[in-house]
Amino acid sequence: MSVLQVDVWRGREDGRFERFEVPREESQTVLDVVTYIQRHLDASLAYRFACRVGMCGSCAMTVNGRARWTCRTHVAKVAGDGRLEIAPLANLPVIRDLAADMREFFDKWARAKGQFTPTATRKDDFARVAPDSPARAAANAGIECIGCGACYASCDVVAWSRDYLGPAALNRAWTLVNDVRDAARAERLRAVAGDAGCHSCHTHMSCTERCPKQLAPTASIAGLKRATAAAILRGEL
Ligand code: SF4
Ligand code: SF4
Ligand code: FES
Repeated sequence: MSVLQVDVWRGREDGRFERFEVPREESQTVLDVVTYIQRHLDASLAYRFACRVGMCGSCAMTVNGRARWTCRTHVAKVAGDGRLEIAPLANLPVIRDLAADMREFFDKWARAKGQFTPTATRKDDFARVAPDSPARAAANAGIECIGCGACYASCDVVAWSRDYLGPAALNRAWTLVNDVRDAARAERLRAVAGDAGCHSCHTHMSCTERCPKQLAPTASIAGLKRATAAAILRGEL
């Protein structure tokens, strides 16, 4: 039987890797490997997952040095030599083992005004947004974010400056800036125009390269740069 050598992070920031041997299976995902370890080799291993089908965003980890969603990452794709190194997401505190603390990640969504502010009441008719309008197309481009944090863990600017809002929060802000039903455009542009906002992005593209949903936070951030600059010129910010 073929066996995988799997080095798994244990403990907190000052932890270490621990090696496990896991039987190789056909169509095995990295999440299957972690689950095997937790169920058969060490029940104390801490990790996070929910949907197993690429929808909830909770299973992202660092796999052989790169942030990935583990439930949709096949072992055959990343461990050709039979070795895996699995660690928690970078750029976030570690709760324990493979579980990163996502609080600062989601706090930044709130700081970037990532929540929809409705203009209509329950009594109003449904809003009609033309599917081919430029604003709708721009909102669509970033709407499928699952909040996995792979982009955030891959961003050098987040690593250098922990105040930086990061690609996911800024992508969300751009989605809402383009939502014609939303009432908080100016407030949101103000929230992302400061030192920790869109103008700190160095356009390294790591977020766009690593996003498992093939979104392009770099393009969203470029949109925010244009929109905030135009708002400043109009004296709105
Ligand atoms: S493009 Fe900007 S947000 Fe994305 S990884 Fe690079 S610096 Fe970070
Ligand atoms: S933009 Fe992509 S990588 Fe970033 S949180 Fe959303 S789905 Fe994950
Ligand atoms: S477990 Fe939900 S996205 Fe992986």
